[in-house]
Amino acid sequence: MSELRGATDIGDFLVSARSFDEYRAMFALTDADLHGRVLDCPGGGASFTAAARARGTAAFAVDPVYASPPRELVARLDAELARGSAWATANAERYVWDHYGDPAGHARLRAESAAVFARDLAACPGRHVAAALPHLPFTDGAFDLVLSSHLLFTYADRLDAGFHVAALREMARVGAEVRVYPVVDQAGRALPDLLASVLAELGGAGVEAEVQDVPYEFQRGARSMLRLRSAPTRTGVRGAGAPGSGGRMRP
Ligand SMILES: C[S@@+](CC[C@H](N)C(=O)[O-])C[C@H]1O[C@@H](n2cnc3c(N)ncnc32)[C@H](O)[C@@H]1O
Repeated sequence: MSELRGATDIGDFLVSARSFDEYRAMFALTDADLHGRVLDCPGGGASFTAAARARGTAAFAVDPVYASPPRELVARLDAELARGSAWATANAERYVWDHYGDPAGHARLRAESAAVFARDLAACPGRHVAAALPHLPFTDGAFDLVLSSHLLFTYADRLDAGFHVAALREMARVGAEVRVYPVVDQAGRALPDLLASVLAELGGAGVEAEVQDVPYEFQRGARSMLRLRSAPTRTGVRGAGAPGSGGRMRP
């Protein structure tokens, strides 16, 4: 674990398993936000989709790892939880522990969330769609809300500004609104240059974007989300420049 202390790179994309309550706080979700069709992108091993659907939301998740056979993915998730927990424990000073108590409490909540995800994956495989940003297999405007946690900005060390813009435009194509959390990297560093260039590109593409405070902080300083709304065009199609919708799914 010692080699993780002070590290700025966790290694491969971590498949983590946040809970519905964490999503609610990270994205400042209200009951009204959860009335429509919601996409979790990337869903990883999170229990958000299962829990939201139990509350009546038409919730779906997308992630490239859903291409793996479910048993393989669930086994991998166990190892991923251990990797994430080792990282958080080794770098405990970078986190605010109020919500979780301590690293053991954090690990317990993530394991509970992963168990809910595993049951949901077995029961509702069609709700978990294998795909990778910046290309989503959904029709324009298929969702009322797209939630994206801990991929963009988090992995800014390997995903460049061009990828961020393409991924955000794609999510704005399929969703009327997009919320992205956090807007810091894995080590908790602010990314003012990346954020400024992404906001400028999105503005030029007709996507309104603003950074908004949220009632959640685990990584120190990660207290805001990026919120996008596509401006309607004269043709009524949102997301200027978005590709057509041939062959795509409408959930
Ligand atoms: C840290 S997890 C976040 C999962 C979930 N949102 C959560 O908070 O628990 C990051 C996820 O991004 C997924 N991922 C990696 N590359 C991706 C891409 N190009 N498009 C969509 N998801 C990707 C990984 O498979 C992984 O499950």
